[in-house]
Amino acid sequence: MTYNILISDPLSEDGIRPLRTASDVNIVFQTKWSPEELLENIVNFDALIVRSQTQVTRELIEKATNLKIIGRAGVGVDNIDMDAATELGIIVVNAPNGNTNSAAEHTMAMLMALSRKIPQAYLALKNEKWERKNFIGVELKNKVLGVIGLGRIGREVAYRARGQRMNVIGYDPFLTKEKAENMGIEYGTVDDVLRVADFITVHTPLLKETKHLLNREAFNRVKKGVQIINCARGGIIDEDALYDAIVSGKVTGAALDVFEEEPFLNHPLLALPEVIATPHLGASTVEAQENVAIDVCQDILRFFNGRTVRNPVNMPSLDNELLQKVEPYFLLAEKLGEFLIYLTDGVVEEITISYAGDIIKNELSPLSRKIIKGMLKRHLGTHVNEVNALFLAEKRGIQIHENKTYKKKGFSNLITVSMKTKGGIRTVAGTLLSGLGPRIVKVDHYRVDITPAGHIIVMHHTDQPGVIGRMGSLLAKHDINIATMQVDRSDIGGDAIMMLTVDKHIGSKIIEELLSLGDIHHVRTIDM
Ligand code: NAD
Ligand code: MLT
Repeated sequence: MTYNILISDPLSEDGIRPLRTASDVNIVFQTKWSPEELLENIVNFDALIVRSQTQVTRELIEKATNLKIIGRAGVGVDNIDMDAATELGIIVVNAPNGNTNSAAEHTMAMLMALSRKIPQAYLALKNEKWERKNFIGVELKNKVLGVIGLGRIGREVAYRARGQRMNVIGYDPFLTKEKAENMGIEYGTVDDVLRVADFITVHTPLLKETKHLLNREAFNRVKKGVQIINCARGGIIDEDALYDAIVSGKVTGAALDVFEEEPFLNHPLLALPEVIATPHLGASTVEAQENVAIDVCQDILRFFNGRTVRNPVNMPSLDNELLQKVEPYFLLAEKLGEFLIYLTDGVVEEITISYAGDIIKNELSPLSRKIIKGMLKRHLGTHVNEVNALFLAEKRGIQIHENKTYKKKGFSNLITVSMKTKGGIRTVAGTLLSGLGPRIVKVDHYRVDITPAGHIIVMHHTDQPGVIGRMGSLLAKHDINIATMQVDRSDIGGDAIMMLTVDKHIGSKIIEELLSLGDIHHVRTIDM
């Protein structure tokens, strides 16, 4: 059998050698097709390889009735409709490691060019202006570099910055004080980073939580004169807020490789002399392009040869019999992980998953993977999937314990998940109710009954008359409709919990108002 493989974005010719030398593949290297031509032709292909230009939409995936695998030569899969690919059983593989070094080096190049105004000086010289006094820079030595996001690339940047004799302070939800010390950097919160850094570089994925991580409010809190670098993803920085912060003099320079909309042309930011920019070149080196191309091509060949792929981004198929038994619990398992991580503060050290009831007759690792995926995806986004969830947790030093009992704890099936952080242990338990779907039935020692969907507010308060009324009036004042409500307490007049589902997201301002009502000590919002 011959497999037809379409490569629709520019890719290193050396990198695709593994495919060229394989006997059973036919490669079409076509980077010039319009989206319409792609839609028309995609039905002929068994595999598609892209970088970030080709938009692999649901429409394209639905037309691709022969497609079995999509290879993303790079890290971010934001240009691929992952839900559509997973729904239609198409495996997506990426190349998460191949461009780490290049992206880190590009960040350092931007940092140095920014601090010494090299692009601006070069432009002046090209325009026959010998201007020395306009281009006085600053040294990096002894300056503080704030790194937000210390995954593969952030860590490499931190390591290199130490080589420049910079002091590095970093924040990542998976970074503990001990790990930071081992890396020779200071551990800080985002606030600490904003407060003390002379240069701030972001290295997170673009997620719900990292969208506009550096916004107006953040720029109000930075040290005057700070310089900003983004070689991760457009959208992590609010470009309008950055523009205003530069014009006001609060931020004195920015180096940008990625933008909210690409190509990024004719934007007012580009007209500012304090801004230097490159057109998404972080991974554009001979080596990175070769590495990522080799990685995806090898995975595609592995897949066609019936072997396990190394970098799957979505779920591979499970044995049909097992799938039928455990699939109904998938949503519950993932939501329990997702719910619990939003309740938890601090770095997760241990997770304990307990299964009770008839459910334990099945092989449960697919459910544990779902739970860990639900938990990790808050910070790792689309990188995390059922295949790599346990590995990624282990790599972050999180211990996972699993136990099972036939004993029914009031429900025919019950999944209990606990997370340990330095701040303590938080627990959530859920069950699958026949015909009604997943339910969260316990939060810590409180009994509740809530569907893990929509906008949820979890409040801890003192059991006093009037608290619920004041809370209800406040939400009503903000036009927030309460859909469901659960209350439980430890004892009369003691600690109590309220769990509401509401019809829209509530922001930090309303949370502050709730906390100022008195008797409400802690508020968490979870948008599921
Ligand atoms: P990674 O998954 O290894 O690391 C990302 C880190 O961000 C994780 O450790 C995660 O815990 C952390 N994080 C998530 N939410 C956070 C938050 N709110 N605050 C602080 N940290 C948070 O990814 P990576 O390979 O290091 O890639 C980092 C980024 O660089 C991605 O956005 C990727 O797409 C991008 N990238 C860009 C280029 C380029 O050409 N410019 C090249 C490669 C990668
Ligand atoms: C990536 O996510 O790997 C990068 O943005 C690099 C790229 O695709 O060019």
